Amino acid sequence: MKGIILAGGSGTRLHPLTQVTSKQLLPIYDQPMIYYPLNTLLKAGIKDILIIVAPERSGDFLNLLGSGKQFGARITYEVQDKPEGLAQAFIIGADFIGDDSVAMILGDNIFTDDLSDSIRSFKSGAKVFAKKVHDPERFGVIEIANGKVISVEEKPKSPKSDLAQIGFYIYDNRVVDFAKNLTPSARGEYEIVDLNNKYLENGELVAEELKGEWIDAGTFESLHRASVIAREHKLGIRDMKSDISVTIKKPEFQKKTEKII
Ligand code: DAU
Repeated sequence: MKGIILAGGSGTRLHPLTQVTSKQLLPIYDQPMIYYPLNTLLKAGIKDILIIVAPERSGDFLNLLGSGKQFGARITYEVQDKPEGLAQAFIIGADFIGDDSVAMILGDNIFTDDLSDSIRSFKSGAKVFAKKVHDPERFGVIEIANGKVISVEEKPKSPKSDLAQIGFYIYDNRVVDFAKNLTPSARGEYEIVDLNNKYLENGELVAEELKGEWIDAGTFESLHRASVIAREHKLGIRDMKSDISVTIKKPEFQKKTEKII
């Protein structure tokens, strides 16, 4: 399975913090935001990862993550010229995905559940993840009855449930063709919900409910909350060292400083 981290967009809601760098590189407790979704993929054994970035921020990501070697991964980059929707990731990433299945995570989604088993057990179709919220109209909304997905809607005015669709999705290889055949919605975006509905029509969409906390770190409040839960739950790349048997190299300047001290 390949992995995609979607980390484009302009992050205007977080100005002035995002005036000089990308939202997904802002600090969450002691790590850049993107380390958390990266950790979700690495922990599940996904080592071949595409990061999709906005053109004006691409250098920042490359400076931070490089080839991915220090994480025991192979990181590839693609530029999304304009943020034209989440589902565009599978068009941009078509060559990278090749014949594989793919897990995509939004670069600003942080959660405490360990989804590794769920990722590893994926066979075919599509798998999405849901979390109970008090303001479902702000998100994609999943309606579930007797364990089956009944509907998925993007930011509905009258939500049919209180289950938000979080920014983590697993698809089989058909997602590439489904995405290529999408038409942009009324707001001009290739919608992830349209992709999920393709699988739903075929009876191949399953949803799993998260037990722990989930944060979409797109506002000042949620950014702060994300730091609190990252600290409390010791989230991030620190968990990785034993799993992928690599030592994260200390930067040169840090080693020198230690000697002086
Ligand atoms: O966080 C979960 C929600 O994420 C889901 O419940 C919704 O179904 C899903 O549409 C999405 O809603 P948002 O309102 O959070 O989407 P937003 O446009 O803010 O984009 C989410 C992230 O993806 C954001 O960090 C920027 C990035 N992005 C977004 C778009 C539309 C891109 O990199 N490229 C894009 O084209």
